[in-house]
Amino acid sequence: MADVFLGIGANEGDREGNIKMALDLLRNSEDIRIIAVSSLYRTKVLGGSTQPDFLNCVVRISTELDPHSLLKAAKSIEEILGRQPGTHMQPRPMDIDILLYDNLEIQSEDLRIPHSRLTQRRFVLEPLLEIAPEAVDPASSTPLADFVKKTLSQDVTRIREDGRSEMPDSHSYKPDPGKITTRTFRRLKAEGTKIAVLTAYDFPTARILDEAGIDCIMVGDSAGTVVAGHPTTLPITMDQMIFLTQAVARGGKRALVVGDMPFMSFQTSEGEAIHNAGRFLKEGGAQAVKLEGGSEIAPLILKMVDFGIPVMGHIGLTPQSINKFGAHLIMGKTEKQKKCLLQSAQALQDAGCFAIVLESVLPDVAKEITAAVRVPTIGIGAGPNCDGQVLVISDMIGLFEEFRPKFVRVYADVAGVIRKAAKEYIEDVRNSRFPGEEETYG
Ligand code: KIV
Repeated sequence: MADVFLGIGANEGDREGNIKMALDLLRNSEDIRIIAVSSLYRTKVLGGSTQPDFLNCVVRISTELDPHSLLKAAKSIEEILGRQPGTHMQPRPMDIDILLYDNLEIQSEDLRIPHSRLTQRRFVLEPLLEIAPEAVDPASSTPLADFVKKTLSQDVTRIREDGRSEMPDSHSYKPDPGKITTRTFRRLKAEGTKIAVLTAYDFPTARILDEAGIDCIMVGDSAGTVVAGHPTTLPITMDQMIFLTQAVARGGKRALVVGDMPFMSFQTSEGEAIHNAGRFLKEGGAQAVKLEGGSEIAPLILKMVDFGIPVMGHIGLTPQSINKFGAHLIMGKTEKQKKCLLQSAQALQDAGCFAIVLESVLPDVAKEITAAVRVPTIGIGAGPNCDGQVLVISDMIGLFEEFRPKFVRVYADVAGVIRKAAKEYIEDVRNSRFPGEEETYG
């Protein structure tokens, strides 16, 4: 599947209606999946022309069409919407340009990719950067955001959803110093910045992790074991996960908060799965959900993403399937397993996952998957070559002592701190040293 950006514009007839129709035609095409659409922009035609202003937007699609077939599809939409041949410099009801097609560079007579003068055209850069702040010019490997300031001072106005116009905020596509979003994840991978993820299950921990600068707080169904004390993650329920997610979301202001969909919350039916995923966002306050599973759940993930629910994938050792595996296995040891993991990672990326957790995967296999997908991989027991790492907080701070996998690094001895504090307290109570004068009213 290719990652493609199309510029769509019109300056004749019902401009907005034509753009909507072009988007519908793209949406109905079997070979094209719409990933994101920018706001509408109003652009004055350059050079003091008397032509009507253009309305335009940029759409990100995923497609199996090769560049020339895609060009043909675009031309046929232009034709359906009434564009006459040879109206390049005249008002036109529809104009569709292929702006970027993966990292390809094509210079043929009928097709230029990246689109000619892309880096000089503010009316294209503004909407493109709105939906893909991390986009890069394949020719120079320079972030497209760097070109905006140098573009012609063309009059480009973003049209808000309520119909009012506003100047595009030339800072809005800059790396976000505030809230981490699913977009930030892509940018971090593109920059080569490793992503740090930890789980949390309560407000104070989430707040501390947030203040420490963690990128993502995952409300893992590991709560079933490390919070509730079950031997596996299976018993934890949707309602319990929502309660924990609400607490974490109150503390995780800057970090991306991801709610983990528990066992049997997404396997029984598509409707129930989407309803439950939606609960994490609506009731839980999370910004995304995580689902365990590979290619077999890709169609479900595609639906969730289409409905506006960002999804993190999770492959390799998936603890919800512990009864199927029979033990905590290391995945990717056989050629068959390796192929299956690679296929699943690809399917999850194509379904729209913004990141993929790789759990207990051989490091070389994790490295291969990381190189093969555009979205970041987040490893847990998958070696150093993933785009990020995740650990269960209770393991990492030395609170959960029942079981310690090899991949955990213990950064603190919180169990020891609690044990020592509790012993001192018991001694103080027994010996009437607590409460003292300073802890007594009056
Ligand atoms: O449940 C969990 O905490 C997880 C992460 C550790 C990946 O799935």
